Amino acid sequence: MNDDNKQKSYHTITYGCQMNENDTERLAGQLKALGYAETDRPDGADVILVNTCCVRESAEKKIHGKIGELKRLKASNPNLIIGVTGCMAQKDRDKLFKRAPHVDLVLGTHNLHQLGEIITDIGRSRGRVLAVWDQAERLAPGVPTIRKNKISAWLPIMYGCNNFCTYCIVPYVRGRERSRPLDEVVGEAADLASQGFRELTLLGQNVNSYGKDEQGHADFADLLAAVDRVEGIARIRYMTSHPRDMNTKVIDTIRRSRHICEHFHLPIQAGSDAVLRAMNRGYTAAVYRSLVAEIRDAIPGASLTTDIIVGFPGETDEMFADTLDLVEEIRFDAAYTFLYSQRSGTPAADLPGQIPLAVKKERLQRLMSLQNEASLAINRELVGTETEVLVEGESKNDANKMMGRTRTNKIVIWDRHGSERTGDLATVKIDAAQTWVLKGTLV
Ligand code: SAH
Ligand code: SF4
Ligand code: F3S
Repeated sequence: MNDDNKQKSYHTITYGCQMNENDTERLAGQLKALGYAETDRPDGADVILVNTCCVRESAEKKIHGKIGELKRLKASNPNLIIGVTGCMAQKDRDKLFKRAPHVDLVLGTHNLHQLGEIITDIGRSRGRVLAVWDQAERLAPGVPTIRKNKISAWLPIMYGCNNFCTYCIVPYVRGRERSRPLDEVVGEAADLASQGFRELTLLGQNVNSYGKDEQGHADFADLLAAVDRVEGIARIRYMTSHPRDMNTKVIDTIRRSRHICEHFHLPIQAGSDAVLRAMNRGYTAAVYRSLVAEIRDAIPGASLTTDIIVGFPGETDEMFADTLDLVEEIRFDAAYTFLYSQRSGTPAADLPGQIPLAVKKERLQRLMSLQNEASLAINRELVGTETEVLVEGESKNDANKMMGRTRTNKIVIWDRHGSERTGDLATVKIDAAQTWVLKGTLV
């Protein structure tokens, strides 16, 4: 067989959030439609896509390193097409070409649906292509999706963000909020159910704003209720909800639902009102506390996770102490903690009082050790109980063990019994607890 007849292959590398993972699935779908097959390794691939994130500098550094590594593959195969897609592509555009001459394509977040066409063009002309629109006026047309996971599917319900938290680059690289019509989302949910998916995660930067971009549009609670009625889906999750827009209607819809999981991910970001105000978060610590109280009252046993940034410009020791106090008081099941990262173009990047790295690191350490203690204590309370898990498959590190998640989104590992199948709901008795994992026995 000569080279032209060999099936072409693609390899993808994804950084960043769940939205980006879903974007990669939609990029892959377009390559599949062109006849490409997926390969696990970059070596030998005909197309390599790096789907990027720019939320923090640390992510960008890693990605630049990865793009640099691909240079040697281009040297050994001049026909290789290397594409950089996603948020960093949107932000840095032609700067990426200058920095990495071996990159053939820079594709912005609003241009994702053009990949198939552009790959065909590059194949013909061997020219470089920059496709970055500033803003998508409308929803991009649907594209085929190749899902890696066969049990759990990402389902985008809206794109973009209008919140402009002062530290955050996302609204600049993802554009304004655009909600998908309710019927379209529900139709896709039903389709996924008929394909055998058991779990759906509804995606958006701020799912509670769903529908607010259009008058008369269904809101997030309406959408949750509608997706809950889809037969065949065992579990529904959503990411991410903003505390400012979380409301009683949503909590009540979750409480009355059959399938929406009792897990609330509500990023607090900071415990100090002065910091929250400077971040433009639109709530105070007191509002957040009462929201948590309302959730715990309505749905006992619900889990609560959060995101926290340490070292926002101007954060004093006292302000940071407010974060520690709040974390100690609320007892989150888990917290994703970040060092503040200066993102040029965002208002906070120009604020006075930028915090030295050493101080940020020391604060992060204190916060993490406090949170880890809480996570472990909460998980220990579960030892001896029986809990429903959705079987996700073999444990990553040990083929004799199986892995699943509770409705509250905790990872559970147990010795393989042999009767459990991926996609089943099973009952596991919890025998031991760690900070991030529970260990148990299949009942
Ligand atoms: N839209 C989601 C999350 C977006 S980014 C939300 O609003 O919850 C995920 C997390 O990254 C944020 O919650 C925040 O904690 C963190 N983050 C965003 N920008 C950051 C920055 N400049 N430095 C450090 N952490 C940041
Ligand atoms: Fe960023 Fe705030 Fe939008 Fe989340 S809500 S993506 S933190 S601007
Ligand atoms: Fe990163 Fe873009 Fe997601 S900046 S966190 S990949 S929206």
